Amino acid sequence: MSNLVHNITLKTGIEVHRMRRPSRIVEELLRSVSPLMTPGVTTRQINAHCEDFIAGRKAESSLKGYRGFPASICASPNGVAVHGIPDDNPLRDGDIVTIDVTLNVDGWHGDGAWTYIVGKASPEKLHLLKAAWKSTLAGILAAKAGGRLGDVGAAIERAAKRQGCTVLEDFAGHGIGTSLHEDPIVANTGTRGTGQPIVPGMVFTVEPILCIGKPETGVLEDGWTVVTKDGSPTAQFEHTLAVFRDRTEILTFTSPDLRANIDAPPFF
Ligand code: MF3
Ligand code: CO
Ligand code: CO
Repeated sequence: MSNLVHNITLKTGIEVHRMRRPSRIVEELLRSVSPLMTPGVTTRQINAHCEDFIAGRKAESSLKGYRGFPASICASPNGVAVHGIPDDNPLRDGDIVTIDVTLNVDGWHGDGAWTYIVGKASPEKLHLLKAAWKSTLAGILAAKAGGRLGDVGAAIERAAKRQGCTVLEDFAGHGIGTSLHEDPIVANTGTRGTGQPIVPGMVFTVEPILCIGKPETGVLEDGWTVVTKDGSPTAQFEHTLAVFRDRTEILTFTSPDLRANIDAPPFF
């Protein structure tokens, strides 16, 4: 049985095991999207590919219909920071695009996002993408039993700043389990040694959004699409983590050797 600490539902070993399934499919899905990122493809086509993939793996998108969200993935190109709705605009050479997907199998969720570059990447966008990857990893490495959530936010913020990037403070990671969004909120900024203690059984996401321009955002009339006010690009990676007494497992990244991907995601 799940245990409640404040509002945080701690997961048993068996419950974490249930979450490995959807999380693994999220990882495989995000890997499968990488070769599709070529000039001319539309995010609606990418959404269609994802729907086939998800059905083939007998999973379900947790996003479709979530508060009325109309698609199975979020697709956020260029100045769209987050929650972009797939559409018919062809992607162009040099575009930077984040795909975020939450899947569930038997009601247990896994959540992940990757940023890709279509065709040839400008040095600036490549730097932003790698900075987002590295700050996400810094947050993940700080997420250990015995620590605090402020350690995670501080590590993300520090890594982002060191690379000349800014974190969008209005967006955060979250607990996840039988709901897509659970407590706690996992802020992407913070102070070491403060905040919610990290204890075994916690499962949550780390998902900072980084930008190189101004961090101000607005929401379009569709009620979903969040854009940067200055139109500057953003990048985001998201992973779902499970905290054990002696280690933290990245449920959405099963590469046996994280060190091989310390500076850049697998496809770079
Ligand atoms: N997957 C997103 C997250 O990381 C949730 C998107 S909500 C949606 O929390 F409705 F926009 F899809
Ligand atoms: Co999430
Ligand atoms: Co997500």
